[in-house]
Amino acid sequence: MANSFDILLLPGDGIGPEVVGAAKTVMDAAAKHFGVSLDCEERKVGAAAIREEGNPVSDETLERAKASDAVLLGAVGDPEFDGGEIRPEAGLLSLRKSLGTFANLRPVAAIPALIDWSPLKREIVSGVDVLIVRELTGGAYFGEKVEGFEYASDQSVYTKDEVVRVARVAFDAARRRKKRVTSVDKANVMATGRMWRKVVAEVGAEEYPDIELDHALADSTAMHLITNPKRFDVIVTDNLFGDMLSDEAAVLPGSMGMLASASLGEPGSPGIFEPVHGSAPDIAGKGIANPYATILSAAMMFRHGLGRPDIAGAIEQGVSAAMEAKFLGRDLGGEKTTQEITKAVSQWVAAGEGVA
Ligand code: NAD
Ligand code: IPM
Ligand code: MN
Repeated sequence: MANSFDILLLPGDGIGPEVVGAAKTVMDAAAKHFGVSLDCEERKVGAAAIREEGNPVSDETLERAKASDAVLLGAVGDPEFDGGEIRPEAGLLSLRKSLGTFANLRPVAAIPALIDWSPLKREIVSGVDVLIVRELTGGAYFGEKVEGFEYASDQSVYTKDEVVRVARVAFDAARRRKKRVTSVDKANVMATGRMWRKVVAEVGAEEYPDIELDHALADSTAMHLITNPKRFDVIVTDNLFGDMLSDEAAVLPGSMGMLASASLGEPGSPGIFEPVHGSAPDIAGKGIANPYATILSAAMMFRHGLGRPDIAGAIEQGVSAAMEAKFLGRDLGGEKTTQEITKAVSQWVAAGEGVA
């Protein structure tokens, strides 16, 4: 097992610096406990990079990202640039494209300490464990765009290879879980949806006969995700549907501040580990952002990006312990600050409580 890592920190905008700072504190506590060395470099992305470098992600930052072992990102986006020509979000899209992180894993699980906080009934939420695998470098996000006021268009393109590779990620994940994949599309309306469905079916039949596969439409999936989330194990879907379904799924644990993610490319290339939430300008700078999503993204970094599931497990256990001890912020009905939550998790991690 490697024990020395180069990490690029891209805190970004809004609450990004607050939650990445929190994750870094926990990572440092874990590194000390496990005797590993973390070499963390910090750079700008998003609005912060536009202000300082005139570009939402510089070529130098992209090069540093490619040379790192993993990237931990906060969030990008700032109302100051809404409607402008240069958008902070473009920095994140360039980063994903240049690292080739085509598979975005977004786990959504019921959290025992929060079951009664979710706006959904206990019997609906209890026991939920879904993995959304979102295609991340294709579709409507990256097709040709025509930007005008009288006429605008976003082309949505998928090649067969792009669908095959993300389908394999989903099937492989299902093999380690409950062995069920639901592929989500709009095959009733969209050409990309019909192709997506045929390709996923072919990959399933030829390479994963042991995995149960079904296909569902994105609109009714949005409804089922809330009314009967336990019907799902792994969901695989395109870039745009995956973006929307995962924010919707945040109501299962009860806050956007709980969902972590890992954006992965080809084996050996650095992944981007990023919370699902955005820069939350409405609460930025107040010290009340929920840091759990980013701390759990750091855990995903140790598991999926750095080959250290032991460190990931320790961080996850620290998070569970802190949540059980009611270290909850305002988004979850509590009063703890970002800093208090961070300190609680770090102490658990440093003490090695429950380390696997
Ligand atoms: P958002 O996720 O930033 O916020 C939605 C709501 O959830 C807000 O009320 C916010 O206060 C709350 N919230 C989000 N994260 C939280 C946390 N950690 N703790 C407590 N509350 C939290 O989505 P939005 O408001 O639609 O977008 C704001 C900006 O963020 C936009 O510029 C958008 O483009 C950007 N964005 C960036 C990313 C990213 O960088 N990955 C993701 C989504 C949105
Ligand atoms: C996300 C965000 C991004 C996306 C934006 C900020 C580009 O919403 O990571 O979910 O749409 O992919
Ligand atoms: Mn999103």
